[in-house]
Amino acid sequence: MHRLITATTEVVVDASGGAPAILHWGSPLGDIDDSTIARAVERPVARNAIDTVAPLAIVAEHGSGHLGRPGLDGHRPGGRAWSPRFATESAEADGQRLVLRTVDRVAELELLLELELSDVLTVASTLTNTGASRYLLGGLMLGLPLADQAEELLWFTGRWAGEFVVQRSPFTHGTLAVENRSGRSTQEHLPLVFAGTPGFGEWHGEVWGLHLGASANHRMVAEVLPDGRRVVQFGELLHPGEVVLEPGQTYRTPTLYATHAGDGATPASWGFHRHLRARPTHPRSPRPVLVNTWEAVYFDHDLAMLTALADRAAAIGVERYVLDDGWFGSRRDDTSGLGDWVVSPVAHPHGLGPLIDHVRALGMQFGIWVEPEMINPDSDVYRAHPEWALTTDGYEAILSRHQLVLDLANPSAYDHVRDALVDLLGGHHIDFVKWDMNRHHVQASGADGAAGTHAQTAAVHRLLDELRRRFPGVEFESCSSGGGRVDFGMLARTDRVWTSDCNDALERQSIQRGLSMLLPPELMGAHIGPRRAHTTGRTHSLDFRAVTALIGHLGIEWNLLDLSPAELDRLAAYLALHRRLRHLLHHGDAVRFDPVSNGSRPSGQANGVYAADRSEAVIVYAQLRTGDSLTPHRLRLPGLDPDATYGVTLLDPPGLGARASDRQPSWTADGIDLSGRHLAVLGLQLPALDPESAIVLHLERRTRPAPAT
Ligand code: DGJ
Repeated sequence: MHRLITATTEVVVDASGGAPAILHWGSPLGDIDDSTIARAVERPVARNAIDTVAPLAIVAEHGSGHLGRPGLDGHRPGGRAWSPRFATESAEADGQRLVLRTVDRVAELELLLELELSDVLTVASTLTNTGASRYLLGGLMLGLPLADQAEELLWFTGRWAGEFVVQRSPFTHGTLAVENRSGRSTQEHLPLVFAGTPGFGEWHGEVWGLHLGASANHRMVAEVLPDGRRVVQFGELLHPGEVVLEPGQTYRTPTLYATHAGDGATPASWGFHRHLRARPTHPRSPRPVLVNTWEAVYFDHDLAMLTALADRAAAIGVERYVLDDGWFGSRRDDTSGLGDWVVSPVAHPHGLGPLIDHVRALGMQFGIWVEPEMINPDSDVYRAHPEWALTTDGYEAILSRHQLVLDLANPSAYDHVRDALVDLLGGHHIDFVKWDMNRHHVQASGADGAAGTHAQTAAVHRLLDELRRRFPGVEFESCSSGGGRVDFGMLARTDRVWTSDCNDALERQSIQRGLSMLLPPELMGAHIGPRRAHTTGRTHSLDFRAVTALIGHLGIEWNLLDLSPAELDRLAAYLALHRRLRHLLHHGDAVRFDPVSNGSRPSGQANGVYAADRSEAVIVYAQLRTGDSLTPHRLRLPGLDPDATYGVTLLDPPGLGARASDRQPSWTADGIDLSGRHLAVLGLQLPALDPESAIVLHLERRTRPAPAT
């Protein structure tokens, strides 16, 4: 028995013989010995069932009598070795890390399991073919058991420009399966699921969360077995024949990340956030406010306009200028040029130098967009190397956004792209790369005709790693038509994600809230878009747009040349506010609060950030639609220092719309002092707000008066 323990979580692993199984994943057990744990959780043999109770192994085994979904799916030629049964041969424990070597001598397979508990529990596995024939792998899923009381699931759907949509369903007998075959972690099927006690909320209920750090295809199965046990399994989804292990070869799963909290979904999310913040590569410098040219000029690259945009940006406090799509090859629209990573002589006749010099002279960093995994059939590289496309011979390739995937697992294609990017980054002073990926994989076969998504994804990771090694000062962003590739596999090698192509503040409120269950705010690109959102046609005030983007990694995606002087001033004020608060926003604990719904769709929502030492907080309350009652509810803020007094003020600009201030709660004018306990229990009455507007509350802990002498 092995016990991994932190302040909030304990994982008990039984590796006493057969396949390792987790006996407990939840709150710390305290003072109890191993044999008592084993006896306490020992299950009865059901009537009319198999005579032994099959363990719920981390890699579940049909061969041991588990009749749910097996973890390992594969076989040798002729169908042999299809149902292995592993025995634990060795266990190495080192602090909170455990490595278990398990072997099946009949099937001639070795399975290594690595577990580590810190801010999250990580689990990964490596399968080795120790036999003399090939082993055809269908999948290798890692399963974690959920406590009996985890009776509700929270998972995610979404779409382009509408990512991270939260779904809730009962976790009951049968299976919920989420499968993704798109070649990216996708807008539609984020590899993230939470389970919890019925009705769990942001600050109540026991909650478990699981995320697979896979950047490509994945499968999640949440299953309640006939005997009542609950399990969530996660693994890479492999197409037939995609991974074949020759003798001696290995396959490593993506890492599974798991968090647990006894007090709600917000604290459970902190496990994921803290894990990301502990990465050695986590960006430590203040997140530079950026301007991105996409929704400002699209493909209309003109040096005079681009430099004028830079002037405006610098004048209002922007710190990074990102040149988006359209600077290279024949790329005058989205039908051609992808793959030709040379500066377009039409768009930039004197190269990128004049623009970069201009931007840098204004004191801003320079960033650039690329989409290295793609080619347009109308490109020089495709004309020279049609065999580099990740397609299937004999079929007409299915295009998406006029483009094909480039087979980076092909060493020649990889070298070509790597060299082009090295020339780009080596030849220019570039601080930031927006790495885009804008289509699904369809019938994506490598040079040998076998499914190629697995090898392609490994090559993408390898390429990013190589570029980071060569250019350690450059930051990278993971973009995939917005938030289509947000996962810890990509985040191991990127510094920001482009959350969504939707800059409509109303949509963004829920998109960002969904993603905040996985990412801390500083990794989440949040831009102030144009007055009329390009993806929805909705019009919002600058206040609502700016407050909605305030907490994330702030940017502007709006043609600043269109703004009135008053709008520029107001925008500059928001940028200054963000810069003033970002030490808190990007280092504190991100918090969400349960909306009050009055039985219908909630009309408003609140989220924000508490300083780690609870000395300060910023909360945004957004009125999403007209209220479902005459006046809004009280906002309760659990989790602050109960004994401290907080001065609560409304930050300017307050966004109270046209409503007269004498009809609003008086604290909105001159603030109020309340203790952390009272903020949690009594709460604070929200003002009446117009729909699609928001306010920002600032909480500051009052210094305690010196004790009387
Ligand atoms: C999709 C991205 O999500 C956008 O932000 C933009 O970079 C376009 N691609 C450019 O083609």
